[in-house]
Amino acid sequence: MNEIVKNQFDAAAGQYDSQRRRLIPCFDDFYGMAASLIRTEEKSPDILDLGAGTGLLTAFIHRRYPEARYTLMDFSGSMLEQAKERFAGTGANVRLIVADYATEDFGGEYDFIVSSLSIHHLTHPGKRELFRKIRSHLRPGGAFINADQAAGSSGLYDAYYRELWETSIAASGLKPEEIAASKERRKMDINTTVPDQLAWLREAGFAEADCVYKYADFAVFHATGVSGPND
Ligand SMILES: C[S@@+](CC[C@H](N)C(=O)[O-])C[C@H]1O[C@@H](n2cnc3c(N)ncnc32)[C@H](O)[C@@H]1O
Repeated sequence: MNEIVKNQFDAAAGQYDSQRRRLIPCFDDFYGMAASLIRTEEKSPDILDLGAGTGLLTAFIHRRYPEARYTLMDFSGSMLEQAKERFAGTGANVRLIVADYATEDFGGEYDFIVSSLSIHHLTHPGKRELFRKIRSHLRPGGAFINADQAAGSSGLYDAYYRELWETSIAASGLKPEEIAASKERRKMDINTTVPDQLAWLREAGFAEADCVYKYADFAVFHATGVSGPND
């Protein structure tokens, strides 16, 4: 488990939701696109949210699939406490699992596995391994949707994306200490380029994979073509 990342999110949990929209310049498009990629006739699909935090992405999906069965996994118990409060009284079918998704069992098979702004904390080999694990826990016809950060194809683009982000948060109304804490958290990021992430999704056994949305270093990936969990 990455103890530093866990501690940072434990500490940020209380203020997390109120800051999110101001920290992510493309907030509505980013989460909205990820949620729109859940496409099924099934009214109550099983959906696993990895690094679910306070349940932001699940909340976007829940608006479209109020009867789905949601499993939220995160190694920060404080973040999941916020998720518990978010869904209290909404009637949402939510199961919370405090665990490291890189090492712990996913607790079943799913129709969709989703994640937002979490997997970039893993090393490159850790991401490759996780993509394989995800595919093996998806039911036939299932899909993996990952809204995450992505590295630019060179330092030139990384610098441009950083400049865009810093300009945006400087004008966001966040307090200097909130901006400083966010910059501190971003020091732990291990971003991967879009082509590498797509190659690793295909290597993991997904027949189809694409980056369906991108704004600067915020990217939404979709991968499917799951014919059987262990084929
Ligand atoms: C930036 S937050 C994103 C939370 C939420 N998905 C969202 O979009 O607002 C990253 C979350 O991933 C969790 N996380 C990072 N690595 C993890 C791991 N290996 N296992 C479980 N949770 C992890 C952190 O605790 C944190 O809650």
